[in-house]
Amino acid sequence: MALKVGLCILIIVCITTGFCDAGKTSSYTRSSDTSSDMPADAFPSPKGSNAPEQVHITQGDRGGRGMIISWVTPNQRHPNVVRYWKANDPSDVYKAHSQIFSYRYYDYTSGYIHHATIKKLEYDTNYLYELGSGDAVRQFSFSTPPRPGPDVPYTFGIMGDLGQTYASNSTLGHYMSNPKGEAVLFVGDLSYADNFPNHDQRKWDTWGRFVEKSTAYQPWIWTAGNHDLDFAPEIGEYMPFKPYLHRIHVPYRQSGSTSPLWYSIKRGPAYIIVLSSFSAFTKYTPQNDWLEAEFKKVDRHETPWLIVMTHAPLYNSDNYHYMEGESMRVLFEPWFVKYKVDLVLSGHVHAYERSERISNIRYNITNGLCTPIKDQSAPVYLTVGDGGNIEGLANDFSDPQPFYSAYREASFGHGLLEINNRTHAYYTWHRNQDDEAVVADSTWFYNRFWYPKDETASF
Ligand SMILES: [Fe+2]
Repeated sequence: MALKVGLCILIIVCITTGFCDAGKTSSYTRSSDTSSDMPADAFPSPKGSNAPEQVHITQGDRGGRGMIISWVTPNQRHPNVVRYWKANDPSDVYKAHSQIFSYRYYDYTSGYIHHATIKKLEYDTNYLYELGSGDAVRQFSFSTPPRPGPDVPYTFGIMGDLGQTYASNSTLGHYMSNPKGEAVLFVGDLSYADNFPNHDQRKWDTWGRFVEKSTAYQPWIWTAGNHDLDFAPEIGEYMPFKPYLHRIHVPYRQSGSTSPLWYSIKRGPAYIIVLSSFSAFTKYTPQNDWLEAEFKKVDRHETPWLIVMTHAPLYNSDNYHYMEGESMRVLFEPWFVKYKVDLVLSGHVHAYERSERISNIRYNITNGLCTPIKDQSAPVYLTVGDGGNIEGLANDFSDPQPFYSAYREASFGHGLLEINNRTHAYYTWHRNQDDEAVVADSTWFYNRFWYPKDETASF
């Protein structure tokens, strides 16, 4: 009898606190930790005179009818034209001219970096585009998203902390082997040039060539990470994000932002807010003011899925980078809960982790309520800093696994978010060692605005 009573009490405590939900720490162990950089000659410049290289595209306007086409010409400024046309109508060719940038960093001078914004594209349409001239013409393609709407399906890839190692190559190839991904949500830390003497800027060039096989064909939605700062006063480099800001252009002004480091876009069924973990975000700063106004603009009837991207995670149970996102959590988490953010995507920690829906907004320093609680208005926090960069894996998880951690694993991989409609999205995480068809972690996400059901109840 006493045993039964005790069991009942335990069950009641578990139900009311959620503390007995067992998260999973994967027992999977990677066979090796090879994450050295690929040699520079793995990414030769394309053939031809002054051939355009490092081609990458990103959404170029608020709602998906624009595209920013970026590329580098190594020797001469021109040609600075992109020609583009609908795949089913090659007779009607349009042109756009780029703005041309270059920068110096320590002993390095960049090539000519082109950014051309093309506008008034048709939704849900395949386009071809062409760069270069003479013996160096190169042709690429992309598809525009559907017009933003509540029930348009759309699939995002999720990657972070990629670098340019053999493991990075495996991650990118793995993602590309699945035809489902239509755009990439990239959560920061691109080239890892800063791991080399004097922030060897040629690493930015090899990285641009490495990722071109995807970035020239799908828009990557960019977030800046700490390895993108390139702040090095010891070698006379005082401008934070100097290489990143020259190489990556985003449509920040269209969302009322004053910096390319934080901005928002609407793409299909998703409203995507990009934040900068390494820019000022405390109260009264431009980023804070912008974000406060930003949430009020989101119309869940038009874009039901509200996704926030940061580099440093707000919740993570790895001992690497312990609590580095805590100051942002204190400031922004009340808004994430108030406005029912569906997902917060981050990188930085070189491992994979998925949280439960939890919040910690009651805590005010003096009341002692410093433990996160289950909260169905809160986002799920995904850490996907597992792209495979030169620094290796973060394999020092806290023990025991905290209740708010649903799944964690120190392996390289990528995520895939398949938004089906306004209520359901299917999420999978794929480790590099498996075939793409093998799913190491998966769950259904239920939209917090339209269908705020507890996802864990269905397991
Ligand atoms: Fe990082």
